[in-house]
Amino acid sequence: MTKNKNIIPHQHKITVIDRSKIKNHQPVVLWFTGLSGSGKSTIAGAVEQQLNQHYRVHTYLLDGDNIRTGLNQDLDFSEQGRQENIRRIGEVSKLMVDAGLIVITAFISPFINDRERVRATLPQGCFYEIFVDCPIEVCESRDPKGLYQKARSGEIPQFTGISSPYEPPVNPELILKSAELTIEECANQVIEHLLQKKVITPYTN
Ligand code: ADX
Repeated sequence: MTKNKNIIPHQHKITVIDRSKIKNHQPVVLWFTGLSGSGKSTIAGAVEQQLNQHYRVHTYLLDGDNIRTGLNQDLDFSEQGRQENIRRIGEVSKLMVDAGLIVITAFISPFINDRERVRATLPQGCFYEIFVDCPIEVCESRDPKGLYQKARSGEIPQFTGISSPYEPPVNPELILKSAELTIEECANQVIEHLLQKKVITPYTN
């Protein structure tokens, strides 16, 4: 909500409905949430690849580590820093949905309130919360970036799952058991769900 009452948003003629008409899909956000090392980015990337290559869908992937080196490089990992991180990503996602895209996001996004706020800012039914459900022991044993080790030694403060909380989704659209399934199986589950919900249509050559 704008704080300045002298700013009056303009209603432009071309709407998301007009922009969507020239696309082969519904505009939505696929919001991946889960611990560091749970597989969010890898699965999100595999989903994007399938959507782009097989379904000819216009996607854009917003990824935690990438966004934090650019748009959100000024933010830390305090509760407020994470809250602002997710708020901005939510706003960017909203613009991209308005542009008619399928937006894929991969952020830990540890707090229920922040994720629900994003859901509430988007048009009804556009937010697909996808919980990449992986036990912390598995994430820690994978430790692809060596960050759990650093968190355990105290080198990284406020590390999610170790010294900062993670609140799992209560009623997500999809749960991916990434410790039990392959990346491909997880990605296929997402694609199946999107077909079922008619977000995308079966690919015909
Ligand atoms: S979020 O909590 O604000 O959603 P985000 O997804 O943007 O986090 O960034 C998480 C990534 O930042 C992790 O995958 C990891 O590589 C890195 N990182 C660095 N410090 C931390 C920390 N204290 N807690 C969690 N992740 C961290």
